[in-house]
Amino acid sequence: MYNIRTLGEFIIEKQQDYPHASGELSSLLSSIRLAAKIVNKAVNKAGLVNIAGAFGSENIQGEQQQKLDVYANEKFKSAMAARDQVCGVASEEENDVVDFEKALGRNAKYVILMDPLDGSSNIDVNVSVGTIFSIYHRISPIGKPTTIEDFLQLGNKQIAAGYIIYGSSTMLVYTTGNGVHGFTYDPSIGVFCLSHESIIIPQNGNIYSINEGNYIKFPLGVKKYLKYCQKYVPDENRPYISRYIGSLVSDFHRNMLKGGIYLYPSTAVYPNGKLRLLYECNPMSFIIEQAGGTASDGRQRILDIQPTELHQRVPFFVGSPNMVDKVETFLKQFPDQE
Ligand code: AHG
Ligand code: MN
Ligand code: MN
Repeated sequence: MYNIRTLGEFIIEKQQDYPHASGELSSLLSSIRLAAKIVNKAVNKAGLVNIAGAFGSENIQGEQQQKLDVYANEKFKSAMAARDQVCGVASEEENDVVDFEKALGRNAKYVILMDPLDGSSNIDVNVSVGTIFSIYHRISPIGKPTTIEDFLQLGNKQIAAGYIIYGSSTMLVYTTGNGVHGFTYDPSIGVFCLSHESIIIPQNGNIYSINEGNYIKFPLGVKKYLKYCQKYVPDENRPYISRYIGSLVSDFHRNMLKGGIYLYPSTAVYPNGKLRLLYECNPMSFIIEQAGGTASDGRQRILDIQPTELHQRVPFFVGSPNMVDKVETFLKQFPDQE
């Protein structure tokens, strides 16, 4: 018998922990849940209907947009526009922020940043993909148009963050700063059921996840760390296991449950790393810290980086705290020659 505490029930239950909560965040989370179900349906049918493959355009970052990127972006955006709590959205698939306050004239206090479809190059080959979201209180006055500062806030100011993984089963995992909770989707009844309450990442893991094809241009400290992971030291569980799916959400999810580290350092093509601070690294960093893990750019805590641009990239090292500490030590010990 599975646990039949639903996501809806859980959100309402947790809301009662905050005496002054107005229920707006709960309503916002349920709009995300709704869009997740709609996108899940499309992802499940991707091989059957004409929704896999390239859309024929590029996003602001010069990446080929996939049809499902565009579809997921539209579905999440309209789910949020349909509720009164969101004043604006920033997305990987939008050049600029989308301001609902101006268009819909509402008095909302939350902004959302999202990667509507993460790992989209994996869709055509039936490999897990995801959605990532990050929620903040706006800082500009309610009732006025949003400002860029509403979106360029420090990660440590997040109110909530989460992801959906469209995998062998679909899950929604989120935090509001009170632990990390995971819900598995039961498609037969159309409900997310609590399956992973208060997730804690192991202090130490034995999985490392990195695109090693970029090795030649990795920072020296990362190269040394990879050799450390691969060294035969049976007492320390080394060599570690190498696992890389190429969807951040999927690699992150596995490592959080089993213990491990995900690395996307600077490379020849991406001198600042590939992953985007605002809608990939910040939400995942909030989640991992809530699960007892660590997220760093190699030198400092991701959540303490002051963002300067919507689509800015950062090197990303995230996972079991002892593993992230170790790679930071190597980066300090072996600085690159300028
Ligand atoms: P997105 O599909 O949202 O652009 O993100 C892709 C990201 C991330 O999910 C993944 O871990 C990484 O790109 C993979 O990059 P490489 O193919 O360079 O390894
Ligand atoms: Mn992504
Ligand atoms: Mn994406």
